[in-house]
Amino acid sequence: MAKTKSVFFCQNCGYESPKWQGKCPSCSEWNTFVEETISKSSGRHLQATTENQGIPIPITEAEEEVQARLTTGQSETDRVLGGGMVKGSLVLIAGEPGIGKSTLLLQMALNFEKGAVLYVSGEESNAQIADRAKRIGHLTPNCYLLSETNPESIISQAKKLNPAFIVIDSVQTLSASWIESSPGSISQIRESTARLMQFAKQSSTTLFLIGHITKEGSIAGPKVLEHMVDTVMVFEGDRNHVFRLLRSTKNRFGSTNEIGVYRMEGSGLQAVTNPSEVLINHYSENMSGSAASVIIEGIRPFIVEVQALVSSAVYGTPQRTATGFDIKRLNMLLAVLEKRCGFKLGGKDVFLNVAGGIKVSDPALDLSVAAAILSSSEDLSIEPGACFCGEIGLSGEIRPVNRVEKRISEAEKLGFKTIFVSFFHEKDSISQKSGIRIIPIRHIREMLTKMFG
Ligand code: TYD
Ligand code: MG
Repeated sequence: MAKTKSVFFCQNCGYESPKWQGKCPSCSEWNTFVEETISKSSGRHLQATTENQGIPIPITEAEEEVQARLTTGQSETDRVLGGGMVKGSLVLIAGEPGIGKSTLLLQMALNFEKGAVLYVSGEESNAQIADRAKRIGHLTPNCYLLSETNPESIISQAKKLNPAFIVIDSVQTLSASWIESSPGSISQIRESTARLMQFAKQSSTTLFLIGHITKEGSIAGPKVLEHMVDTVMVFEGDRNHVFRLLRSTKNRFGSTNEIGVYRMEGSGLQAVTNPSEVLINHYSENMSGSAASVIIEGIRPFIVEVQALVSSAVYGTPQRTATGFDIKRLNMLLAVLEKRCGFKLGGKDVFLNVAGGIKVSDPALDLSVAAAILSSSEDLSIEPGACFCGEIGLSGEIRPVNRVEKRISEAEKLGFKTIFVSFFHEKDSISQKSGIRIIPIRHIREMLTKMFG
């Protein structure tokens, strides 16, 4: 019988320690150690891999193997994966509960035509999944459901079925019998995933793992999980809005610059092939406090609308809230506006919202944030058909952004009449066009006069 021992794991980074510690020596987080019981022989399954030791091969021969990709049947997902799924790879899909991870993968399983798919769920019953599948569209006999949490049983079923890919919903429910700690604990997640990974690599089966994100925004479970898998994709969005973004934060088989855009509808997720058109649908002209911007997320430019509300603070300390935008960056922009333009915003409440419920990290949004704040603060509307694109530096200078030509042509394509950009771009890239007026500006002060005349 295998001996058991008790060890402590840091829930943040997976660091293992024989005794409890207040602060993790590896990741410096406090109070993260949790006791778990592991069986001494738990390394057994990992050691087995050495039996299948490989032989060295010339790099030229290895190349061909990697390129074998399968399309998922969803163009947006394929793009984020870097052109389809790689055989034998592990893909982790992380997201907050209720964001639509199960829906995304179930849809993928139903759309897949080139073989069987095994959808393993430890969270929902088969009937529940089938019910959802009916809502999404059609039931296909290719898609097999399995209600199971033990990795060994999953593997033995997968060997019989020989599916093209397996979906595990979710890693937090996996429970290997040779590990004594409860599902969702560090050692369970790590050992179960390692066992499944071993199977995936041997049988060239692609494995999609669904993982929940904790309140703090990290993937529940150890960081080691992120290290083990080949691709980490994050599914995000605001649950109260219809838009969902799929972006990869790690990809061994492609770039991490791609994003997929979806809408969550009554009949499942629909790919959004032209995000700009949907995101400016509600674009409200002649209202103070709203400004449009062309951002590039991934490699595609699209238009988003920023709304700001500036009002006198009711209580002593003014409130600052930002949805879809970094609050620290908002505070920095407010400080720049105050110091470099003389706007007294210190005693004002500022609320900022990126319409559509998407999170934007592109600094090119800065200029539209500043424009929206100034417009709301002065109660002057921005001229119809104007959009903004530029990063704001600490001294109030407007800094150039990448791929400005692409942004300008996107704005032009969508019927914008004017675009404010940085003066410091190369002259060729911002030469005047017939369809759109390009206004280069050097400093945020200059924008004020050009914006409101
Ligand atoms: P789900 O895929 O269960 O989320 P997760 O697996 O990430 O926890 O999706 C949950 C939400 O999606 C649920 O609140 C309802 C919504 N939804 C739709 O709006 N339309 C649909 O067709 C489906 C299946 C779900
Ligand atoms: Mg789910």
